[in-house]
Parts: sequence; structure tokens; C-alpha cells
Amino acid sequence: MQVASEDRLKIEVCFDPADQAGTMADEVRRGLTATQKWLPCKYFYDETGSALFEQITELPEYYLTRTELAILQNIATPLALAHPFEEVVEIGAGSAKKTTTLLDALAAAGSLRRYLPIDVDGTMVLSCGQAMLARYPQLEVSGLVADFQKHLSRVAPARGRRLVIFLGSTFGNLNEEERQRFLAEVRPLLGPTDRFLMGIDLVKDVATLEAAYDDAAGVTAAFNRNILTVLNSALKADFDPAAYRHRAFFNRALDRIEMHLAPATAQHVVLQALDLAITVQANETIFTEISCKYTRATLEHLLAETDFSLTEWHTDPEGKFAVLLAGPR
Ligand code: SAH
Ligand code: AVI
Repeated sequence: MQVASEDRLKIEVCFDPADQAGTMADEVRRGLTATQKWLPCKYFYDETGSALFEQITELPEYYLTRTELAILQNIATPLALAHPFEEVVEIGAGSAKKTTTLLDALAAAGSLRRYLPIDVDGTMVLSCGQAMLARYPQLEVSGLVADFQKHLSRVAPARGRRLVIFLGSTFGNLNEEERQRFLAEVRPLLGPTDRFLMGIDLVKDVATLEAAYDDAAGVTAAFNRNILTVLNSALKADFDPAAYRHRAFFNRALDRIEMHLAPATAQHVVLQALDLAITVQANETIFTEISCKYTRATLEHLLAETDFSLTEWHTDPEGKFAVLLAGPR
């Protein structure tokens, strides 16, 4: 379904509203009836969730965004001069604030023609698309409101050399099986001279990691609880978000931050749209997100398994975050 089509802006929605409601119902039922209750983290991102994430990116504890931005600022011009990319496909674009660093460099090099943002939150696809149109007078924007775990085959065919980007360490939110499948689905988006650029958060000391996911101002806690508000409105549920404590800790064995919601007292919840009643016990948690932290070796291996080869690896001076460039093998 195409929802916006002006000369320079096209936005296509890959979800059929009936299918989308059905998918959410199935996923939430599966998650909330499992022994370890869990929820898919893509449901954080309604309008409120996206706005809370934007606030997270500005928190003093959340070093990820500013560190990635500094790396992008260092590499954008040499990258644009070495590779005259004509289009940028951005997976999980969000507000795409850091993306202008790359697009500015490509526009200055004279190659940029088209920007293709993909996000599950349609309001973000529209607002970042409009912002890019205003910033780059010759640019075409072709957005997809889509699930990047399901709809990457719907990305428009390339019209020239292409850079596919996946910023913010969103790759870390995928589990072992999902990340393998994701990379395998990104790979066909690249032709021989195209590249994949990804921002990755690296393994580091536990205190820095845990503070980034449990900030003093409580913004990450509000972001975490918002998933229950999303379920309340989408599935006619009656969660009391305030009854749940935010828990975020580093699981050293699996090199990942885990976020959970844990009620102080047992909660009885009805999800009318699912015809489901559940109890979340006082000592129980709902697992809402993983945020995996990587090393170069692990990523190099993962990329090779999916027919990519790592061509560049850039980090900040403290080695907190990496931006990698990969191409077809
Ligand atoms: N790239 C931005 C935003 C990162 S936040 C940055 O670096 O700051 C993660 C983004 O991915 C959000 O905008 C969210 O809506 C989107 N997202 C999460 N899961 C998704 C999915 N399964 N499919 C499409 N978009 C998804
Ligand atoms: C989008 N993603 C990479 C963020 C992360 O760091 O895993 C989401 C987030 N969760 C809590 N804070 C931020």
C-alpha cells in the first residue's frame, strides 16, 4: 500500500492492518504464555516509544549515540570520496539524525540521488523523509514502513551504487537466530560495488554498560514500561505499567544487556483482544529486550558466514563503539 506519493517522496507500508494485528496477537500470546515471559522489542516503538528513545540518545549515560556520531563524522568524507554511492538504504532509521553526516558527505561529493529509510514506526519514516527532502533539494526519498525482519525483499531495486546502513547498534537487539537470518536478507540488497555499514556496541566494563541501560533520570525505565502501554491500547489489555520495576543487567555469559519488567506484587492481567488472562508473579519477570555487545572477531565471523567480508573497522579512541564497513565476499 502506498500512503504518500509526491514528486520526490514515496512511502510504502508493508503491513496489511489485519495481518499486523494478527501477527502482534500471535507474538504476544506466544511471549506471555511462555515459561519465561517475553515480548518482541519492536513493540517499544509507537510514537511515545520513539520519542523516549530519542531522549535516551541524549542521556549522559547512553554513550552509544554520541560515540557513533563522532566515528561517522571522522569517516564520512573519506567514505564518500572512495565510494560514490548514489543511494542510501537505512534499516531501522528512526529520526535518522546521525545519517545526515553520511548524506552531507555524499551530497558534497556529488553522488547522492536517493534515500530509502525503513522503520516499523511510520511516523518516523514520514518525518525523517520530510527532513531529508528539506535538507537535500535534489534528493528522492522512498520510504518503507516495514518490519526489517520480514520485509527486506520489498526494498526497491537499486538505481546506482548503494550503501545500506544499520546504525545505533540495533543489530544488538537481534538474537542468535535472528541476526544470522537478518544478515542473509541484507546480503541480496548489495551489488558487487555496494557496501553495508553497521554501528555496533562493543563489550566493555559492566558498570558503563549497566548505567547506559538504567539511567538516573529514569528515561530507559519509562521506555521499557511503554511496551505495556502499547499492549494496553493495541490489544485491549489492562497492564498497570507503574506496578513494574525496570531491570537492566549485563549477562556476562552471553555478552548482552537484558531488560526485564518485574512487578513488586503479583499482577493479574486481561488481554481482551487475545481472550487471555495471565498472572505475572511477584518474583517473575517479563523479558523485553536483549542488547548484545560484540567484539571484532565475533562480527568478522558472523559476516563471513553470511557471505560478507569486513573491509573497514573504525572505533572511537576508547574502543567503546565500532562502525564497520562490509562488502560482498
Ligand atoms: N537508527 C536510529 C534509531 C535506532 S532505534 C539510531 O541509530 O539512533 C531502533 C529503530 O529501529 C527504531 O526507530 C525502531 O522503530 C526501529 N525498529 C525496531 N525494530 C524494528 C523492526 N523489526 N523493523 C523495522 N524497524 C524496527
Ligand atoms: C535501538 N537499540 C539499539 C537500543 C539499545 O541500546 O539496545 C534500544 C534501547 N534499549 C534501552 N535503551 C536503548
